[in-house]
Amino acid sequence: MSVDFAFLDSGTGGIPYMLSLHEKLPSAISVYLGDTEHFPYGEKSGEEVTACASKAIQKIIDLWAPKAIVVACNTISVTALDSLRKKFPGLPIIGTVPAIKVAAEVTKNKKIGLLATTATVNHPYCQNLIHDFASDCQVVMRADPKLIDFIEKKYFTASEEERLFAVREAADFFKAKGCDTVILGCTHFTHIAEEMRKECGDGISVVDSRDGVANQAIRKIHEEKKSEGETKKSVQNLSFFVTKASEQELSEYESLCKNLRIPFGGTI
Ligand code: DGL
Repeated sequence: MSVDFAFLDSGTGGIPYMLSLHEKLPSAISVYLGDTEHFPYGEKSGEEVTACASKAIQKIIDLWAPKAIVVACNTISVTALDSLRKKFPGLPIIGTVPAIKVAAEVTKNKKIGLLATTATVNHPYCQNLIHDFASDCQVVMRADPKLIDFIEKKYFTASEEERLFAVREAADFFKAKGCDTVILGCTHFTHIAEEMRKECGDGISVVDSRDGVANQAIRKIHEEKKSEGETKKSVQNLSFFVTKASEQELSEYESLCKNLRIPFGGTI
């Protein structure tokens, strides 16, 4: 079996990225691997992240021989993209990095908040992005492993009230710092974009990189066939797999996929 795109994240974080690409190019066949065996990546060392991501990419290549890999994970992208590209030459690998450039274009008061994993906020890659694209802005960073854990393990079964409560601390943090723009710099946070918008209120823009990454992935494999007659939201071209799950988690992934109309392939 050979697919167009394979998406990789430590868990469910990158699903909105796969859906964004599917919106833009419904004919593309995509598979998604959540490396749940090694979740969370954001609390691991650079060496560990590189080793886990390499193993997962090898598995993806052996199973699906994709035309391109979309690393739908900021942590892997900022820590390991160069080594992964060296390790898998000839395979286009599209990374996901915090949308600093977008935020710098959106902010009016030049105060930007970055919500990400511990590994991402501590990585010099972020400082380089700020230097290159937002040197006239103040960027306030917050690592939030607790919120990431909530999203991976509880979000999909949580009530609206529990979801809003879970994001409140981060929203209050950025409000107190006076940010008018908040970057969702970990793909897991794209699931809670709406809750974050509600908690931040009208004065704060919440941005992420899903559209930019999808566009880049499409450009990369030269399949810019956006799509008269391809607007229907068929999802039979998508599927989702994980590397580890308990019985309970399997049934949760099953119902998540059912809600999103993405076939669940189980563990591999
Ligand atoms: N979703 C991932 C990211 O974008 C990492 C979450 C984790 O495993 O800590 O950074």
